[in-house]
Amino acid sequence: MAEEKILTKHPLGKSGKNISKQKYDTLKKAILSALKNRQLTHTELFSELNKSLRSKFSGNISWYGETVKLDLEARKMIGRTSLKPQKYQVKSNAIVMKTEGTHYGVTQIAQLFPSLKRIKDKSLREKVASVWNEAITAGCGGKGWTFDELRAIKFTLLAGDIEMTFVAHLNSCARQCIAIADVLEKSFRCGIPIQRDYLIAGALLADVGKPLEYDKDASGKVIQGKFGQQLRHPFSGVALAHKHGIPGEVLHIIATHSHEGDKVERSIESIIFHHADFVDFDIAKVLGKRAAKK
Ligand SMILES: [Fe+2]
Repeated sequence: MAEEKILTKHPLGKSGKNISKQKYDTLKKAILSALKNRQLTHTELFSELNKSLRSKFSGNISWYGETVKLDLEARKMIGRTSLKPQKYQVKSNAIVMKTEGTHYGVTQIAQLFPSLKRIKDKSLREKVASVWNEAITAGCGGKGWTFDELRAIKFTLLAGDIEMTFVAHLNSCARQCIAIADVLEKSFRCGIPIQRDYLIAGALLADVGKPLEYDKDASGKVIQGKFGQQLRHPFSGVALAHKHGIPGEVLHIIATHSHEGDKVERSIESIIFHHADFVDFDIAKVLGKRAAKK
């Protein structure tokens, strides 16, 4: 397979260099971590890069380092101080590897999504948390999301300027699903067979692909990233959840919850989630239209 390349930028608008994406990512990570919480002169920065990459980088560290440093300056992820000697520093809007080495378990993920604790099967609960852990730490184009960033993401990028958030939507859907299950079970004498653990897990995982779908641009605005253009979240969500041993009944909900599932027969749990999801989504569209008229 052809090696993926990236055309670097130059702060003065000069032509960039077409270099290996893998080498670019390695240098970018090394530069941002060298400048984490400190300012370094050019010499200090390059001595740090040589130290951290000497044994693991094939290529001229100084040449690649300079190319990627200029690119990060052009993207306003790093900047130079005005005082002499000039030093490099990470810009406040730079997107650093925020979640490197972080692992969120059930307790932390339940802070975002309290309904996680309503899943009775401990093993399923833990698997749902581990899927979310990976989505949060690997999302945003590989940079990871902080909880605060995740909480600030709008419910949908399609509905315009409204106050509904992504995390609140997931919590709303999970609670709607539980409420619908309560009503259905009490309403029909025939008994509606609802697998609650699968329903709640599906509700919490249906959009787990979105943190992978979304990225941030240089100004910090949440946008659909390259991966998101290639795969919508029902697909990336299934792939991620399958990797963590999530059962087929729950994968089915993730796969079929949105329009992708219109051509298949949804399970009872997927029908419930699908409608809960669109209650929020259709309301968001109405609110978006109203906000646009103001
Ligand atoms: Fe969705």
